[in-house]
Amino acid sequence: MSFELPDLPYAYDALAPYMSAETLEFHHDKHHQAYVTKGNELLAGSGLEGKSLEEIVKESYGKNAPLFNNAGQHYNHIHFWKWMKKDGGGTSLPGALASKTDSDLGGYDKFRADFIAAGVGQFGSGWAWLAVKDGKLEIMKTPNGENPLVHGATPILGCDVWEHSYYIDYRNARPKYLEAFIDNMINWDYVLEMYEAAS
Ligand SMILES: [Fe+2]
Repeated sequence: MSFELPDLPYAYDALAPYMSAETLEFHHDKHHQAYVTKGNELLAGSGLEGKSLEEIVKESYGKNAPLFNNAGQHYNHIHFWKWMKKDGGGTSLPGALASKTDSDLGGYDKFRADFIAAGVGQFGSGWAWLAVKDGKLEIMKTPNGENPLVHGATPILGCDVWEHSYYIDYRNARPKYLEAFIDNMINWDYVLEMYEAAS
């Protein structure tokens, strides 16, 4: 399959003031588009052309770094747009996720603190994740275009901590961006959808 840039599932200004239209225009139209364009160039002749995106990510990992970087970022961003919504975030987790957060992660407050710490602690570019591994929720962090798929886990929530995701709105204040992501932007309905698919 060739890669295609999906439309944002909301208007460019829908997430303001937490994520500006300017950030989304650059991030979606320029950065994500570049991963799609470059990914398609690298996919041609790679031997993985007929595979699903998830398969391309897993099978190129450790073998074809340029393709992996672009395919990984394409996968990550497809979901990242859907992991956010207007008036999202906060403690309004759907019931199944709330109880799982309590049993596996020590409750919402600990999840919030640990997710932010993962994002802040990712040196350089990368992602903070909530993933399902061996039936349990786990907080992870990965560098660059990596994601939990290549570590035997299924991502159900991810926050892009590349500077292109926050520098216009927060400058170097990555912790403030992560707080706004959790408190004001997470689309918990989509997290639940991915959790149910992973379970
Ligand atoms: Fe990004």
